[in-house]
Amino acid sequence: MEVKLEQVSKRYGQKLIFENLNETFESGKITGLVGDNGAGKSTLLRLIAGLDLDYTGHIYYDGQPLRKPLYQQMTMVFQTPYLLKRSVYDNIAYPLELRHRPAAEIKQKTETMIARLGLEKLEKQYAHKLSGGESQKVALARALVFEPELVLLDEPMSGIDAASVSFMEQMIQDYVREYHKTVIMITHNTRQAQELCDRTVHLNGAWMGGNQ
Ligand SMILES: Nc1ncnc2c1ncn2[C@@H]1O[C@H](COP(=O)(O)OP(=O)(O)OP(=O)(O)O)[C@@H](O)[C@H]1O
Ligand SMILES: [Mg+2]
Repeated sequence: MEVKLEQVSKRYGQKLIFENLNETFESGKITGLVGDNGAGKSTLLRLIAGLDLDYTGHIYYDGQPLRKPLYQQMTMVFQTPYLLKRSVYDNIAYPLELRHRPAAEIKQKTETMIARLGLEKLEKQYAHKLSGGESQKVALARALVFEPELVLLDEPMSGIDAASVSFMEQMIQDYVREYHKTVIMITHNTRQAQELCDRTVHLNGAWMGGNQ
């Protein structure tokens, strides 16, 4: 799914976060969203996710404005992931259950995700009792398991150990390449922005005196 921003501006009260943003996020590409703390990265992701409708300008999804069915085709992983008070397995299976997928498919896809992220030993554990990094892995698995067109990731790998970072990166890359989906990912990791992302977009924070 291609996402196109046209003259998008956002304020919180008097505070201008960004002004007249024009960007196209292409299908089959990973775009990194970078910028200082407070620059407006999470804010922009929430706008694209349709979670904050209080802005001016236009956001088009494959040329169309936001409509209800589109929410089913996109997903966002938050800076602090929130998981259901259920097991790891049930959290990952949940998006498939919501979409009434057949039981065999739910089982197969959930187990595949668990194996790819090395979460086998945790699958029965309650998700709200996981460590921060474990929660982030479960959140990523839950985001990708239903194969959404648009994946919005807000610092999905902050605080993740080096080995886990490399297989999470591989997972995201495989996902985009195999299925030709769109990923927009916030990162503070310069190496990751350069190596994993096909392109980066810098936000400077209009209120901080930066230029877009
Ligand atoms: N609901 C809100 N009401 C008022 N101001 C807000 C609100 N949410 C965020 N802000 C402000 O908007 C600015 C951008 O916030 P945002 O969370 O988008 O930054 P960010 O680029 O994601 O930063 P970080 O790297 O620290 O996560 C910040 O100065 C923040 O204080
Ligand atoms: Mg943020």
